[in-house]
This record gives sequence, C-alpha cells and structure tokens, in this order.
Amino acid sequence: MSLLRTPFKPLLAALAAIAIVAFTACGREEDDLSNGKAQFVQKCGSCHELGRAGTQGQTGPSLDAAFRAALADGMNRDTIEGVVHRQIGNVRRNSKMPADLVTGDDARDVAAYVAYATGKTGEDTGALAQAGLSGATTGAQIFTAAGCGGCHQLSEAGTNGNIGPSLNELASAAGEREPGQSASEYVHESIVDPDAVTVSGYNAGVMPSYEGKLTEKQLDALVQYLLGG
Ligand code: HEC
Ligand code: HEC
Repeated sequence: MSLLRTPFKPLLAALAAIAIVAFTACGREEDDLSNGKAQFVQKCGSCHELGRAGTQGQTGPSLDAAFRAALADGMNRDTIEGVVHRQIGNVRRNSKMPADLVTGDDARDVAAYVAYATGKTGEDTGALAQAGLSGATTGAQIFTAAGCGGCHQLSEAGTNGNIGPSLNELASAAGEREPGQSASEYVHESIVDPDAVTVSGYNAGVMPSYEGKLTEKQLDALVQYLLGG
C-alpha cells in the first residue's frame, strides 16, 4: 500500500501550495461566517428560505432544498460555496434576483455561510447565534437585520423596497387602518400576523410572519422605530 501512495505525494504537495496561494491572494485568512449570516438575512432572506438563518422568503428557491440532492450525492460544501458565489455575481438574464447584492469579501462571506448552513436543522451556536437578527437590539438594527427593507421603502433606513407599501407615512396611516386599534397595536399585528389586514393595492400572503422570529423586546423596539421613536 505504501508503495502505491508514494507517487501521489508530490501531487498533494502541489495542490496544497496552490490552495495556500489562492487563500493569501484573497487578502484574508478565513471567511467571516457571522458577517455572511448577517448579510444573508438582510440582503437575501426576503426571497430565500434558509432554516439556520431563520429566513422564509418565497420569491426564490429554498436554499435548504436547492442543495439537498447535491449534498446527498456527495457534493462537498466548498463546491456549494463556489456555486453560491457565482450565482451572486452572475444571475441569469431577466431573473428576479438582482446581481451583485453583495460584493467582495461580503459576497465570499455570504457564499461561505450558505454553504455552511444549507440543509442543516437545529440552530446556529456560539458567535453565529448572535449574528443577524438575534443580535439586533435597536429598531434600526432590527429593521435592517430582518430584511424589511427588501420589500419596504423607509427613508430613515435608506431602503427602497417596493413589494410592500412605503413605511414613510406609517405613523399617520397606522391609527386609521383598523377601527379600535391604536397605531402601535396595528403595526405590531402587521408584523406578527401580516394577513390580518391587507393594505389595499397589495397582496396578502407576500409578507412573511415574524411571529417567533423576534423577541417581544425586539418587536416593541421595531414598532416604536416605525412609528417615529
Ligand atoms: C428579489 C428576490 C431575490 C433576492 C433578494 C435574492 N435572490 Fe437568489 N434567487 C432568486 C430567484 C427568483 C432565483 C431563481 C433562479 C433565477 O431566477 O435566477 C434565485 C436563485 C438563487 C440561487 C440558485 C438556487 C438554485 O436552486 O440553483 C442561489 C444560490 C441564490 N439565489 C442565492 C442568493 C443569495 C446568496 C442572495 C443574497 C446575496 C440572493 N439569492 C438574493 C431571487 C432572489
Ligand atoms: C417579502 C416582502 C416583505 C417583507 C420581507 C416584509 N414585508 Fe411588510 N408588507 C409586505 C406587503 C406585500 C405588505 C402589504 C400587504 C399586507 O398588508 O399584508 C406589507 C405590509 C406591512 C405593513 C402594513 C403597512 C401599512 O401601510 O399598513 C407593515 C407595518 C409592515 N409590512 C412592516 C414590515 C416589517 C417591520 C418588516 C420586517 C420585520 C416587513 N414588513 C417585512 C411585504 C413585506
């Protein structure tokens, strides 16, 4: 056996050398999975389901399901990382998915996180558990981390989503939407039970429910933020 192995050694060494060059050429040692997760939740989650990231978007394919067969066939996670990275930079023409939502290190981190998380059940642990939505505390952070801006315009947050109504005038509109409900009751309900009331001109069933995705504290902070403090 040892005779058989020897000829491969130089090849392995050469491959290892290439791998090291490839790594240092990127200027960083390691992918930052926490950043990848945070960016994913914010920029991709409104369209893609990914269990570990807690996202439930339905516009694009589930990124848990997308790689299930490939993983079962033995495709390794590095290869998946490459597939995701390519998809971010090269979406097919006329796709609903915007190209280059994340670039450079962010794109690599997102690809690395998706490759790490896809098809996994359970919850992220350690530092990763705090990345993305679970680590967000202020209303502005939560709005960004939850990916609300992918669908909603809100000038204060610098977002321009147009799948849902603009939230710029929410403070004045919210108190009028449902008789007997205060503005904050209505906004709270809109987030945990979006189909309770459907804003005219928009479709029900598009906005995901954030029930169980946000703590009560996060919900309160978000509602206050949306109502202008
Ligand atoms: C506005 C919705 C939207 C956003 C935002 C979005 N995507 Fe997509 N994505 C899609 C759609 C729709 C497809 C289906 C294929 C196509 O149209 O190109 C897709 C396809 C993919 C695929 C290929 C899946 C497969 O089954 O082959 C990957 C991987 C992917 N997206 C990753 C991402 C990542 C990572 C981000 C964030 C940087 C992102 N997407 C943001 C809508 C979106
Ligand atoms: C995938 C797109 C999508 C995402 C993501 C999304 N929303 Fe929505 N949202 C909608 C749509 C569509 C409507 C209008 C239909 C309805 O009332 O359910 C809506 C309605 C609302 C309303 C009611 C607005 C009004 O004028 O009465 C509020 C408030 C709201 N969303 C807040 C949020 C917040 C906060 C988040 C993030 C935690 C969020 N949305 C994430 C699509 C989305």
